Amino acid sequence: MLDLTPDKSALDPIEIASRDEIQSLQLARMKWSLAHAYENVPHYNRAFDEKGVHPSDLKSLSDLAKFPFTVKTDLRDNYPFGMFAVPREQVVRVHASSGTTGKPTVVGYTKDDIETWATVMARSIRASGGRPGDVCHVSYGYGLFTGGLGAHYGAEKLGCTTIPVSGGMTERQVTLIEDFGASIIMITPSYMLSVLDEYRAQGLDPRKSPLKVGIFGAEPWTNAMRGEIEEAFDMHAVDIYGLSEVMGPGVANECVETKDGLHIWEDHFYPEIIDPETGEVLPDGEMGELVFTSLTKQAFPIIRYRTRDLTRLLPGTARSMRRMEKVTGRSDDMMIVRGVNVFPTQIEEQLMKVPGLAPHYQVELTREGRMDVMTIMTEAAKGHEAEDAKSANAKALAEYVKGVIGVTAHVKVAETGGVERSQGKARRVVDKRNL
Ligand code: DLL
Repeated sequence: MLDLTPDKSALDPIEIASRDEIQSLQLARMKWSLAHAYENVPHYNRAFDEKGVHPSDLKSLSDLAKFPFTVKTDLRDNYPFGMFAVPREQVVRVHASSGTTGKPTVVGYTKDDIETWATVMARSIRASGGRPGDVCHVSYGYGLFTGGLGAHYGAEKLGCTTIPVSGGMTERQVTLIEDFGASIIMITPSYMLSVLDEYRAQGLDPRKSPLKVGIFGAEPWTNAMRGEIEEAFDMHAVDIYGLSEVMGPGVANECVETKDGLHIWEDHFYPEIIDPETGEVLPDGEMGELVFTSLTKQAFPIIRYRTRDLTRLLPGTARSMRRMEKVTGRSDDMMIVRGVNVFPTQIEEQLMKVPGLAPHYQVELTREGRMDVMTIMTEAAKGHEAEDAKSANAKALAEYVKGVIGVTAHVKVAETGGVERSQGKARRVVDKRNL
């Protein structure tokens, strides 16, 4: 694969500044952000007062631990615009999360916020190996979801020829990648697998595609999946993380030269890892729930937002900003099967060890009597469709899952196309236990 390490002179100087410089910038910005939230958002005013803290109590970065957390229901309770810290007229953009139950969560941006977002997104694309002049194909959904427009503004800011394709119409995705000569694709990893299927269906060799880099995020995916996609397309596969409440895509991104976890753009987003049970802040290196505080956002400041994403913080490598390890999963997606905690990414890792199985999967949970039953639905890879091959591969996967994760799973191997395909975020768990 090509060496796409960016030239140091192309980076924002803060990306490689000293830790002292980064921390003093963070402290100044954090003071501003806490005061801004406290003075302009009734929710924060009340929550800080109830906890007996005032923005002036923040003397060092670790004092942040004294401030209250913000959770998704706080945003729902202030639907739609109650968390905005500026007059609505200054909000030039609104996004919202779909929210499977109840009202969606709404977030807003001023002109300056949009500029900040484009800056961190451009930085993310550059870290991934993108350069001005690249043709950048955006398959993240455009609309209330932050993926499409977030990626779009960043690609334009970097100076890429930006193709706003959005999700869906997979046949056309392939045609456009080929005809426009896309060197960068921004897409969920699960949808990239559908694009891969489509390349093969059209009789095209994906390794000959013009793609050099895929920037994959919006859902958890494993290093094993990275290997699969890199091999299939002969391209770099890089991880991008973000969430609407904190900004959208571009909160953290891997560097193409190291691919060792995602550098958090700490000049704008301050991370903490907490014990999800006690709320206590954990030292760097320990696994827990990721919490973010925005340092520069004007319209929608967010203080100690509990993401429910599980990961750990690691020191900087290719950049001086700290890294977060690839997200294991959301606490919401954790399955408890006969007392064992299981994340879909753990199943994915085992699945990728069996060459006769395709990388598509969904986990179904049912109940037999009082027992939880886990069924992994997957597909035969091309050339492995014979019944005896399917049952041998099912058995192999069940053995890996039992041996490594410690749970008994049924495995069903369907024909090609038998597992639901995603055009955005994949639905990995279908829980039928309470139906
Ligand atoms: O998914 C923003 C985004 C768009 C990120 C495109 C990257 C690329 P939400 O819809 O608010 O925003 O969902 C945020 O998605 O809390 C994680 O659980 C999950 N997520 C996002 N990126 C990753 C990733 C966008 N790289 C939620 N790895 C987050 C694992 C991810 N999970």
